[in-house]
Amino acid sequence: VTLLRLGLVGAGAVAELHAAAALAMPEQFTVAAVVDPRPDVAQRLADTCAAPSFRDHRELASSGLVDAVVVASPHTLHCSQTVDLVSDGLSVLVEKPMALTTADCDIMLDAARRHGVILAVSHLQRHLPTVSATGRLLREGAVGQPRIILERRTARYETGTRPDWFLDPHSGSGGILINLGPHCVDKLIQLTASQVSQVASAWVSGVGVVTEVAAMLAFDRGVRANVVLTGTGLPAAEVTEVVGTEGALRLSDSHGVEVFANGQVVHQVPRGAGDVDLAFRTQLKEFHDAVVTGTNTAVDGLYGRDVVHALECIAAAADRETVAQPRGNE
Ligand SMILES: NC(=O)c1ccc[n+]([C@@H]2O[C@H](COP(=O)([O-])OP(=O)(O)OC[C@H]3O[C@@H](n4cnc5c(N)ncnc54)[C@H](O)[C@@H]3O)[C@@H](O)[C@H]2O)c1
Repeated sequence: VTLLRLGLVGAGAVAELHAAAALAMPEQFTVAAVVDPRPDVAQRLADTCAAPSFRDHRELASSGLVDAVVVASPHTLHCSQTVDLVSDGLSVLVEKPMALTTADCDIMLDAARRHGVILAVSHLQRHLPTVSATGRLLREGAVGQPRIILERRTARYETGTRPDWFLDPHSGSGGILINLGPHCVDKLIQLTASQVSQVASAWVSGVGVVTEVAAMLAFDRGVRANVVLTGTGLPAAEVTEVVGTEGALRLSDSHGVEVFANGQVVHQVPRGAGDVDLAFRTQLKEFHDAVVTGTNTAVDGLYGRDVVHALECIAAAADRETVAQPRGNE
């Protein structure tokens, strides 16, 4: 086993999960440095890893202390920081969304290719035991031929409910669509084993940033997915329903996986308390192996770009619907 010296860029909520995953795999990783412009935040996470801290990712890149980096900063920084880091020969696991646009994804992909390093994206869904179990059940025909998927997520997007940058029109650009949309698209790709082939319709709303989204997506074999994300009022929750020709399945953060026939639950896969931590460890282990062998993970920059492309198509479809609205009594 090759020990990788890992750097963390951004020391916020998700960086703590990556740090915990790395600390749980001492044969694969040592957390060798932490970066955050907020010195107290950087120092707190650095202390738990017994690592030095920096204020800027370029200091980390030139320090020679790390082999690979997790970029877990606000979305708007993912592209520029990844390009800087891969250009210094460091492999990167960048948080979702890979970037705000496919044009930026292309710049990142090109930089990683030119410098011969691994670029992976933190799309966790396939590593969550309930999501992978759902994919397996669907492939085994548990609901017959899937016809429609309802993907419903709620999150708190009122002022003061999350770090300010998420609600800032510049740094939080795209709001709930660019923040939770990647999880939904990633999950739907896993469950349908296909890409989004068309955005049939989409609508977004919000003051400052997008806080509400409704979109109808088409996948291969005629499967449709109705995605509804809302950020106002309701507590955070997540439910996916797959209705097929012979039954239905519900995947939720409260009940795990439930397969239904004739109105009754006929099969269950409960959610485990440690599922999310396990998913972060599995992801980091795959990143480790990719860096050591030089062979990318399935969730590479091209996969991250596909997800960003789907989100761009949703935003474009929502713009078209806004333009098509009646102009009123002018
Ligand atoms: N894969 C997942 O399940 C998952 C979960 C949560 C968040 N995320 C993603 O991770 C990213 C961070 O989200 P979060 O919830 O941890 O946010 P957060 O606000 O808790 O953390 C972000 C951190 O980045 C720091 N930062 C700001 N500018 C920086 C810079 N120039 N260099 C380095 N650090 C900088 C902030 O000070 C903050 O500490 C987002 O892109 C989000 O979409 C992914």
